[in-house]
Amino acid sequence: MHTERTTSKLGVIERYRDYLPVAESTPIVSLGEGNTPLISCPRLSKRVGRTVSVKNEGANPTGSFKDRGMTVAVSKAIEHGTKALICASTGNTSASAAAYAARAGISCVVILPAGKIATGKLLQAFVYGAKIVAIDGNFDDALRLVRELGQDGNFAIVNSINPDRIAGQKTAAFEIIDALGDAPNFHLLPVGNAGNITAYWAGYREYHASGRSTKLPAMIGFQAAGAAPIFYNRIVAKPETVASAIRIGNPASWKQASAAITESRGAIDVVSDEEILKAQTWLAQHEGIFVEPASAASIAGLFKCCDSKEAAYSLQKISEQSRIVCTVTGHGLKDPDVITGQMQELKSVPATVNDVRRAIGL
Ligand code: F0G
Repeated sequence: MHTERTTSKLGVIERYRDYLPVAESTPIVSLGEGNTPLISCPRLSKRVGRTVSVKNEGANPTGSFKDRGMTVAVSKAIEHGTKALICASTGNTSASAAAYAARAGISCVVILPAGKIATGKLLQAFVYGAKIVAIDGNFDDALRLVRELGQDGNFAIVNSINPDRIAGQKTAAFEIIDALGDAPNFHLLPVGNAGNITAYWAGYREYHASGRSTKLPAMIGFQAAGAAPIFYNRIVAKPETVASAIRIGNPASWKQASAAITESRGAIDVVSDEEILKAQTWLAQHEGIFVEPASAASIAGLFKCCDSKEAAYSLQKISEQSRIVCTVTGHGLKDPDVITGQMQELKSVPATVNDVRRAIGL
């Protein structure tokens, strides 16, 4: 049943099969993920005086980049006869795991930090039918529990400690090179558990090695200032940030992320919650791209690299030919609470042209 094409839009396994750990016999569990738009952003480019494109991963089936890795991890799990998935999550991994488990017809357990999951993501895990367990602890505690629970063989772990997740996520770098004809000079992205920066770097290196690109980008990652273990080079016991998706104090792929940053001659930096929320609104109002707060960390980071003397990596002096790509990782509707708080109550007006004119301010 799974080997037939499941959607009219090809997923990442069908498009990049030669680069992925799948065989002809691997049953493909797909929702048509990947092939997300690389949007050229004229106002953003003008604002920073550089050529910037945004890779909008919110356009994936469950609204985040996790789907790229999940299609591979769940397909492999089904190949191995798995009956249940398990993951820890700050929200997006659980939404994606729950959806792909439903698609595959198996069960899914998600372990979440209580009270710290954005409304839309929790709702997704629920509607896709996952068994949701909220713990008194943070993401790092949840991942520790998942590692233990995964040991007895009852579950396939679908966090990014599963190499199939990283393999799937590297396809985003392939798509960028396929779209631009070469790698960009700089790639900016948010960092939480550090799987995605690891995956992008693997993808860029692999395409480069196979002659699909002539260069490798500098990888520049951004953590939230209150949850920045890699930047400060120490575990953060109580990470705090409005960007709940990256509220992580001890990233699983810390070493691999550090290697990506060093090898690519990139950097890791921090952005404040205030900068994140400002960048989120800026991107929505100037480019029409609504992303969740964690995703806006890459845009806040871009502003910092172009504007601030404090930046870990300055983009102030790069040549005009340089190409910058920022990944925005998840859709804004997943995490609406901060924006909802900023909205004024809508007062209705009588349904006449004159009243509506007055309300518009004409
Ligand atoms: N942006 C979003 C929207 C995320 O959900 C995450 C991670 C990241 C960025 C960071 O990516 O962990 O690969 O460095 N979310 C995970 C989750 C932790 O459980 O959904 P990373």
